[in-house]
Amino acid sequence: MKRARQNPNSPAGQAEQRGANQRLLLGLSIHPPVIFQGFGSCSSSANSGMGRLQKILIPFLGLVLAFWFYSARDTFKPEMLRGKRVIVTGASTGIGEQIAYHLARMGSHILITARTEAKLQNVVQRCLELGAASARFVSGTMEDTAFAQHVVREAQTSLGGLDMLILNHVGASYFGFFDGDVEHVRKLLEINFLSYVAMTTSALPMLKESEGSIVVVSSMAGKVGFPFTVPYSATKFALDGFFSSLRQEFAIQSINVSITLCILGFIDTERAVRAAAEVLRERPAPRDECALEILKGAALRRRELYYRYSSTRLPLLLRDCAAELLDYLVRSRYRLRGPRRPPPSALSRGHRGEGGGRRAPPLPVPASPPPVRDARAAPAGTKRGPQRRLRALLAPPGRGKLIINKVY
Ligand SMILES: NC(=O)c1ccc[n+]([C@@H]2O[C@H](COP(=O)([O-])OP(=O)(O)OC[C@H]3O[C@@H](n4cnc5c(N)ncnc54)[C@H](OP(=O)(O)O)[C@@H]3O)[C@@H](O)[C@H]2O)c1
Repeated sequence: MKRARQNPNSPAGQAEQRGANQRLLLGLSIHPPVIFQGFGSCSSSANSGMGRLQKILIPFLGLVLAFWFYSARDTFKPEMLRGKRVIVTGASTGIGEQIAYHLARMGSHILITARTEAKLQNVVQRCLELGAASARFVSGTMEDTAFAQHVVREAQTSLGGLDMLILNHVGASYFGFFDGDVEHVRKLLEINFLSYVAMTTSALPMLKESEGSIVVVSSMAGKVGFPFTVPYSATKFALDGFFSSLRQEFAIQSINVSITLCILGFIDTERAVRAAAEVLRERPAPRDECALEILKGAALRRRELYYRYSSTRLPLLLRDCAAELLDYLVRSRYRLRGPRRPPPSALSRGHRGEGGGRRAPPLPVPASPPPVRDARAAPAGTKRGPQRRLRALLAPPGRGKLIINKVY
């Protein structure tokens, strides 16, 4: 039977409303057990567990959604780099060369640099074929900070300004236990670190004007301690310190120049593969994809870029909560066989302090003959000779060997 609806302001209407509210409350208190009746003997502790789970799950899902929304905010489009004026260092080969080719396809103005003029000429030629708005090179060594500044001046005169500075070059180092050679560390710091600082300093006025970007190519070895690359790791850690601090100062001073630090894993560049393929347990990632990811990160003005994510960002999550586990995982990437220490005879033969010259502090392994510093310095056909000799020193008959090579 249909009842006439009371005026909600009349006493009868208000009484009816109170009754409806009570029925609603009653309904709510009855329904949950009905809903969960399928669980049969589910006790109140199960319900409270469920409540706790909901309390964790809902904020967690919220965070995931927020992260997804934040990271999907910007999408990269190649047009972002069309017509941009870009310097790429270390572009005669490897990742730098691939960065130059991607920029060329996107129609950028490119200025590349490295030491080997013949290779740079070829890269410039290829860039023009691929559609670069313009392409040119300057050759020289980054051991000399004056040369680093000269490259930036060249951008000013030939390009009329700068939108992006990609710092990628890397000096050759050895792969093996730290050999105590302080001069080598100094030289590597000049190439891998000081020249980056010098170029940034010189380029800053132009980058401020264009509200441009600085891209610093670093490594996992610049975020966590890696064995056998002590001088190299030191230079990469230095980059993180300098550029992360500089980013803070830019924020304080409202300088709109982005800094993207690129944390790379093992990449299939010729030199890295030649050196590390037999040492590392992982497969190298493709350099052209790596180069594209670097450019995407730079164009989107990301603060850090991880490539590949699975072998860089994910392990680094352990750094603060399980540092020793991370150290162990890093060590387990290497195929180390046999004794870690050389026999005494090898030590005495290999010690840098023997046979005249300066006496270095005692080392755990022979430092001499040194592993390959620069393949170009070795006589033709003997590129891997010193590495083989060092391996032989470290491998007494029948006891396996420690693989020594050059790697990033
Ligand atoms: N490949 C990897 O597995 C890997 C992993 C992590 C990080 N990274 C980083 O990625 C970047 C590129 O690595 P890559 O593997 O592409 O290196 P690469 O193939 O060895 O190329 C190095 C580049 O730097 C130039 N260079 C070397 N010494 C120089 C000097 N004294 N002055 C000026 N230029 C110099 C080289 O050209 P010239 O010899 O003609 O001068 C070359 O163009 C580096 O910063 C490296 O640390 C690489």
